[in-house]
Amino acid sequence: MLTDKFPRAILSHTPTPLEFLKNMTSNLGGADIWIKRDDCTGLAMGGNKSRQLEYYLGEAIAQKADTILITGAVQSNYARCAVAAARKCGMEVEVQLEDRTPDRPQEYHNSGNPYLMKMMGAKIHYYPDGEDEEGADNSLYEMAEKLRSDGKNPYVIPLSGSQPPLGALGYVDCAEELLQQFDELKLQVDGIIIGTGSAMTHAGLLAGLRAMASKIPVYGFCVRRDKASQTLRVFEKAKIVAEMIGHPGIISADDIWVDDRMLRPGYGQLNSDVLSAIHKTAECEGILIDPVYTGKAMAGLIYLVENKHFSADQNIVFLHSGGTPAVFGYPEILEEKL
Ligand SMILES: Cc1ncc(COP(=O)(O)O)c(C=O)c1O
Repeated sequence: MLTDKFPRAILSHTPTPLEFLKNMTSNLGGADIWIKRDDCTGLAMGGNKSRQLEYYLGEAIAQKADTILITGAVQSNYARCAVAAARKCGMEVEVQLEDRTPDRPQEYHNSGNPYLMKMMGAKIHYYPDGEDEEGADNSLYEMAEKLRSDGKNPYVIPLSGSQPPLGALGYVDCAEELLQQFDELKLQVDGIIIGTGSAMTHAGLLAGLRAMASKIPVYGFCVRRDKASQTLRVFEKAKIVAEMIGHPGIISADDIWVDDRMLRPGYGQLNSDVLSAIHKTAECEGILIDPVYTGKAMAGLIYLVENKHFSADQNIVFLHSGGTPAVFGYPEILEEKL
């Protein structure tokens, strides 16, 4: 594997299935739509973060850490999976929840991911600012200092763009897994559609594909930042990941496809396209997607297919990156439907 030299804790159930979405394909009447079920990676309800955490926990174990620290939104899937990962590795865990989406109903604060984090016994802290990645990381480093002075050995999983993208290695692995699955099915794939936030998934997938000499385009739909800043973030991270796996210089600016049309009105907030994508996926396929990440990516996929970005004889793959627990924090998914 391209990632063999990095310490890794095996946390995920992989390979995840690659399935054909027959009903979505006929409903949309365009390209053949496949789904990579990374919502099935295990680890307390799974998602893309399970693969990413394997490399942080790998390093934490190598450093003999006893406590994991992580920051994220109140409905952070990353934090929920990190709590599960820490527990699986026998560690303590502290989570800092940032107020990124003010004015959400009570369910947002109590159900879904925060509920699961508390169930697994995480110590919860709150951070008032939702748009200050460096500040949120610094606050974790201060907590880590305090723990160190109490004789603990904490490990911080950083969030900000300036930190090495260790988690992206999980998606280098996923790229290898996908190419093997395409090969086994003799499937020619013309695009992989994902949600792009911290850019770990996007950067890892892209670097992994290009390192394996695959030219398959990766279509990233923004979930947090606008197109210009996300494009830059993905490009920078993908170049670093390529270097980390021993393939420097394989990523060019043309590889970065990012679109922010489904982000509106902002992070963690629904719009009518996302709502309709959530209901269509659930009703056509019995597959649950979420309002924050996968709903935005699926709304993007639907937009591309409806606007004939792909022809009917092409195959596209939707990366289901998980996030399902967050639906319980969004009662309006059902209220709007009723
Ligand atoms: C369910 C889900 N999908 C997609 C993403 C975006 O992935 P990344 O942060 O690697 O860009 C996240 C990030 O938290 C997520 O929780």
